[in-house]
Amino acid sequence: MSRPKPVYIEDLKHHVGQEVEIRGWLYNKRSSGKIHFLIVRDGSGFVQGVVLKNQVPEEVFDLYDELTLESSVILRGVVREEPRAPGGYELQVTDVQLVHQAKDYPITKKEHGIGFLLPRRHLWLRSRKQWALMRIRSELEKAIADFFEDRKFVRIDAPILTPAAVEGTTTLFETDYFGEKAYLSQSGQLYMEAAAMAHGKVYCFGPTFRAEKSKTRRHLMEFWMVEPEVAYATLEDIMDLAEDFVVYLVERILERRREELKILERDTSKLEKVKKPFPRIYYSEAVNIIQAAGLPFKPGEDFGGDEETVISESFEKPVMVHHYPARIKAFYMKRDPKEPDLSLSVDMLAPEGYGEIIGGGQREDDYETLVQRIREYNLPLESYEWYLDLRRYGSVPHAGFGLGLERTIAWIAGVRHVREAIPFPRLLEKIYP
Ligand code: 4AD
Ligand code: MG
Repeated sequence: MSRPKPVYIEDLKHHVGQEVEIRGWLYNKRSSGKIHFLIVRDGSGFVQGVVLKNQVPEEVFDLYDELTLESSVILRGVVREEPRAPGGYELQVTDVQLVHQAKDYPITKKEHGIGFLLPRRHLWLRSRKQWALMRIRSELEKAIADFFEDRKFVRIDAPILTPAAVEGTTTLFETDYFGEKAYLSQSGQLYMEAAAMAHGKVYCFGPTFRAEKSKTRRHLMEFWMVEPEVAYATLEDIMDLAEDFVVYLVERILERRREELKILERDTSKLEKVKKPFPRIYYSEAVNIIQAAGLPFKPGEDFGGDEETVISESFEKPVMVHHYPARIKAFYMKRDPKEPDLSLSVDMLAPEGYGEIIGGGQREDDYETLVQRIREYNLPLESYEWYLDLRRYGSVPHAGFGLGLERTIAWIAGVRHVREAIPFPRLLEKIYP
């Protein structure tokens, strides 16, 4: 007997009326006695196989009882259009082969708590919503590269092991580097500044690390960040870029990951509203919003989770908050020449309470001022000598930002917590699996 051709579920539309082979895992099943329904997933999608008693050999029909959840199976059958089936196609099964029987798969169809699911992340990834999330993540990663490549940015990979802090010294992961202290990178920014002086427009995209001591729905210890940096750019320019970027990302997901958004029950009408222009407000205006909402907040302080939630719920689109007080921002931020207490900084907060997805701004480009800042922030000047060189040799105004991938996914996909937006989350005191 000739074996039908193996195909992926996502390609079934090209094989209507043909007999094909699907190689995957049993996701779910039910039976009416004379008809078995097998829901199989193969990584590319989900399909329902219909097994009729009078159309398959008895031993194939009787295999049903052995087909436990997450057993690996091969289905053969004829592809039929079925508008009511998820994905739009169904398989009229001719043969079933059990490849490996899974015994007592721990994740069942009932609701499990997060404490149960997280240590089983390696299996949880197979669940439908998690599958949809990872496909959205993968598409976003591609969209990020496409956006910058279309605009002729050069991708420059930043190192992971670094000798100095970028975003404050309290969240550093320290390691021993041949007897010297080294830290896992908090941000590739300083290296992108160097690269921007070589290539004009650059970006890096990779994992970054922060020993965040707080447990929130927005913080991971290891997260992915994309960081563009542009020579001769100002705060204004970088806000324009950030706006174009986020519009592009949302459009791409709406265009290519509709099915996944549906699985996640995402209200896409909210995403359709993400169009230019985004509101741009001063930090001081954001403070007014917080105070009007009745939150106890001391003007001049940085926003915490609650404040971000309130600001971000006040707009239907992402909002850009700029001109934060300089003292709550990093050492490298350029100050507004007209208001030296304020920095040329910007955060973009996603709507629906998701909060900050982007942080960035214009960089201090004057040598003397930067030296003074490094001293004021009690940072070791010798570690930043190379960085100061950028202000010694052909310094120019420049600006950039960092977008956190997991926070962006959580917002676009509509999941509350960033831990579901990364395949294997690194959380406070949790590194398994
Ligand atoms: O605002 P942050 O700290 O900015 C920087 O690191 C700059 N050096 C970037 C630059 O200008 N090149 O971080 C940027 C973004 C945040 O807006 C957030 O989306 C994400 O990175 N982020 C985190 N995401 C998950 N878990 C954490 N612990 C995060 N910390 C920051
Ligand atoms: Mg920030």
